[in-house]
Amino acid sequence: MRKPVVLITGAGGEIGHGLIDQLALQQQRAIVTLDVSPLDAAIGRKVDREITGSILDRAVLDRILAEYQVELVIHLAALLSTRSEFTPMMAHQVNVEGTLNLLEFAQHEAESHGRPVVFIYPSSIAAYGIPDLATKARAGRVTEDEWMHPRTMYGCNKLYCEQLGMYYARFYKQLAAEPAAGKVDFRCVRFPGLISGLTVPSGGTSDYAPEMIHAAAKGEPYACFVRPDTRIPFMAMPDGVDALLKLAAASKANLSRTAYNVSAFNPSAEEVRDVVLNAFPDAQLTWKTDEKRQGIVDSWPADVDDSAARIDWGFAPRYDFQRAFSEYLIPTIRQRYQRG
Ligand code: SER
Repeated sequence: MRKPVVLITGAGGEIGHGLIDQLALQQQRAIVTLDVSPLDAAIGRKVDREITGSILDRAVLDRILAEYQVELVIHLAALLSTRSEFTPMMAHQVNVEGTLNLLEFAQHEAESHGRPVVFIYPSSIAAYGIPDLATKARAGRVTEDEWMHPRTMYGCNKLYCEQLGMYYARFYKQLAAEPAAGKVDFRCVRFPGLISGLTVPSGGTSDYAPEMIHAAAKGEPYACFVRPDTRIPFMAMPDGVDALLKLAAASKANLSRTAYNVSAFNPSAEEVRDVVLNAFPDAQLTWKTDEKRQGIVDSWPADVDDSAARIDWGFAPRYDFQRAFSEYLIPTIRQRYQRG
């Protein structure tokens, strides 16, 4: 008898850290992880089986298929937006071919155990592409279906995989004699920038906000790579993790779409600097715009309309801008660096 499990790819990344803590507390399913690097011991001891390997290695996925009854896939493995611009071919392999492998894996799992596999996929505000700042100001809070013209490899990858997921959920092999669609129950959140108190991101373009606060806590100088007036949506990591788990647990009948915006607050870079300086008055935070990375952030919306997520599956972030800093980020980050 194969064991019912949740499979988490890219488990050692920023989202994986918070997610594994929560899933381990819930104790609903055994946790199997797949990551190219070994997990930190702190999360490694909370999982039932840790596999070090690549989502591009189909033999590894075949072994998981043979051994486990996977009911839920949380597919986090990806190269973020800045990193992907330097290695677009590799980004396409990991972000698109890797996701296709996982969708096919989920399809086979569902065919093998006879129940749909819920497939949770984090997409991104990078799926948007707004042509210039005047249009961004006019666009305001954008809905899921506006401005779908991404300017980065990562954004193209995410948008395409949103579509692929919907294809598996609704139209897969639509000309076959037997219906095959619907076995993958694809559900996606389009995340804003995520800020974690536990980890520092690597390779993203929204990283200026988390980098500012982690540098301040460490007493290191930091030059922010975007202009003070730069504005995009953000969310504290615990709310990001809750969003994934809430969407996974939602009743399918309530879901009116496969991709949902989520967001909690949208400060300018200057407002982020002000709250960080308030908490760490000696921090040396300066400005040094990287025009190229600025161009990417300027193409992302200043805010997103997440009312569909709130209505359909009760998305409700706990942390607004002030609480995210005062009750989560500042205390967590202080403690992290005190411990060394
Ligand atoms: N945080 C991500 C990035 O900057 C956006 O999805 O790449």
